[in-house]
Amino acid sequence: MVAVDVVDRPEGLDDRVEWIRSPGGSGLPPELTGLRDALVIAHEWLDVVPCTVAEVDADGTAREVLVDPTTGAESLGAPLGAADHRWATAHWPTTAPGDRLEIGRSRDEAWADLVSRVDSGTLVAVDYGHTAASRPSAGTLTAYAGGRLTVPVPDGSCDVTAHVAMDTLDADDVRTQREALRALGLTGATPPHALASTDPLAYVAALGRAGAEARLLDRDGFGGFWWAVKRVRGHDVA
Ligand SMILES: C[S@@+](CC[C@H](N)C(=O)[O-])C[C@H]1O[C@@H](n2cnc3c(N)ncnc32)[C@H](O)[C@@H]1O
Repeated sequence: MVAVDVVDRPEGLDDRVEWIRSPGGSGLPPELTGLRDALVIAHEWLDVVPCTVAEVDADGTAREVLVDPTTGAESLGAPLGAADHRWATAHWPTTAPGDRLEIGRSRDEAWADLVSRVDSGTLVAVDYGHTAASRPSAGTLTAYAGGRLTVPVPDGSCDVTAHVAMDTLDADDVRTQREALRALGLTGATPPHALASTDPLAYVAALGRAGAEARLLDRDGFGGFWWAVKRVRGHDVA
C-alpha cells in the first residue's frame, strides 16, 4: 500500500504503508507511474487541487476572482481565459450577476494525469462535489486548518478547498457514495434481534458493522461524497 500526500510521513504509521511526498498543486510524484493491477483511491485530493474561481459581474461576464495572499480579501479581475471560458461554457454556463463558478478544468487535467499513470486497474475519486444538475451557484471555496473550518487565505496555513465537478472527470461511472456502497451490498440494516439471544457476540459485532455502514451511507454525511470510477484495462491481456 502506498500513501501520497504533500505532508511528511506521519509518526507511527504502519511500516507496511509506503509514503511518497507529492509536489503539491496539481502535481503528482514522478515515481507514481506505470501502475499495474492497481486500486487507486484519490480521497479528498481533487478538492485541494487549485482551480480558477470566477464570479459573474453586473454585465453578465464571468471574471476571475483575485485574492490577496496575506488577507484573503477578494476582488474581480479579468474575464476568464480561453481554456477556462471553454470549460465554463460547456459545463457551468451562467450569466446571472453574483454567481460564482469553480472551474473544474485543472481537476479534470490532474485526474487525467493520475489515470495516465495506471497501466491496469481501477481508480476512484472520492470527493464532495456536484454534477451539472447541482452546480452550487454561491460557490464552495473554504479552508481547513487542524481539522477546523477557517477563512481561505492562500498563505500555506490551511488547506484551501472547493467542491469538485465530478461529472466532467474522465470516468466510467459517477454516483454518490451512498449509491455506490448500496450497489456493493451495504444496507446499514440492524441485525435480527433474535441473534442477541442465540449468539450475543455475533449480534454485537453485527450491530457495530451496521452502525459503521449507516455512517458511510448517510445522505447528509459520508454518503454525500461523490465517487467517480475509472477502469483501465491492461494492454497485454492474452
Ligand atoms: C481532507 S485531507 C484528506 C486526507 C486523506 N486522503 C483522507 O481521506 O483522509 C486532504 C489532504 O490533502 C493533502 N493535500 C493538500 N494539497 C495537496 C495536493 N496538492 N496534492 C496532494 N495532497 C494534498 C493535505 O495534506 C491533506 O492531508
